[in-house]
Amino acid sequence: MTLPRLAHALETGALELPKDARLVFLEPTDEFDVSDFDVGDIEVQQNDKPSFDRFEQIGARVAVHVDGPADFVHVSLPRSRDLARGLIAQANDIAKGGVVLVDGAKTDGIDATLKAVKARTDIVGQLSKAHGKLFWFTASDAFADWTLAAPAPVKEGWITQPGVFSADGPDAGSKALVDALPASLKGDGADLGGGWGFLTKFLLALPKVAHVDLVEADHRALSCAKCNLDDPRVSFHWADATVWGAAASLDWVVSNPPFHTSRTPDASIGQAFITSAARLLKPKGQLIIVANRHLPYETTLADSFVQVQELDGDTRFKILHAEQPKSRDRAMRRKRR
Ligand SMILES: C[S@@+](CC[C@H](N)C(=O)[O-])C[C@H]1O[C@@H](n2cnc3c(N)ncnc32)[C@H](O)[C@@H]1O
Repeated sequence: MTLPRLAHALETGALELPKDARLVFLEPTDEFDVSDFDVGDIEVQQNDKPSFDRFEQIGARVAVHVDGPADFVHVSLPRSRDLARGLIAQANDIAKGGVVLVDGAKTDGIDATLKAVKARTDIVGQLSKAHGKLFWFTASDAFADWTLAAPAPVKEGWITQPGVFSADGPDAGSKALVDALPASLKGDGADLGGGWGFLTKFLLALPKVAHVDLVEADHRALSCAKCNLDDPRVSFHWADATVWGAAASLDWVVSNPPFHTSRTPDASIGQAFITSAARLLKPKGQLIIVANRHLPYETTLADSFVQVQELDGDTRFKILHAEQPKSRDRAMRRKRR
């Protein structure tokens, strides 16, 4: 059993799952393993593409949205409070008279969530383990007003949704990157980790840019990007940028790469974006990224490109420009998804 708190609840008998129970897992963490459960029917909702692919590989039935019905719905608490509430409202809807389980780390706000849920319904069981809590209660319609808001305009008219990166409006790092974009950028390129479309909007405004592939793992963010970018020169890809393959080699890649995997700070994801960009580019192609100043990307850039320079920056951010990917076998290693 891999979800440690749920495992503990089942092992100690605090919670029992009948063999014919229908289970739904809403956006579980990567600890989830379908083979841990000896029950009739399991469905998984997953919004994040790399996790979606991983769960599918281990034999889970996965969808971007699950309607149920189910007897037990397990919610893995995300960091965003509004998204967490949205998933809890959805779980109550799906479970209808069944059981909703909410499972999360202290650092993701499980204590505040427990308090807010307790104010609306009786908690049937709870336990603490692995720096977090699992609690459960009978599903009801007491959470209907927590339903996740649809994509809607925020600052400057940008359309976003709770839970996506920089949901309140443009990110300061991305703004710094936009200010440094060379007007000479031309041809076909990609915005890796394009989020809800901020960078792509400015890329399309450059006079010589012909086409942008916006590659994004967060399905909700990609839906927002489609609302923000009504332009035939964009292709939208719900994909893992570290393995995504373009239809043809690209002239340029621009990115504000992620700096955490799941909930943990992790520079290796940004480094994987850099090696992926090198694989996707033409021999004379160029990569422009923005990063928080402390992030260690220079070695990966030097390993992957002939020329690397800092285009712009301040004490908080650096804009890095790399040209001529070193990979000789780009075409062979180009992966198509
Ligand atoms: C720092 S944010 C930048 C978002 C957007 N470009 C902007 O400027 O607002 C990084 C983005 O990468 C996405 N992301 C994380 N891991 C990814 C992956 N493996 N493949 C594609 N996108 C990913 C995140 O969901 C997030 O939207």
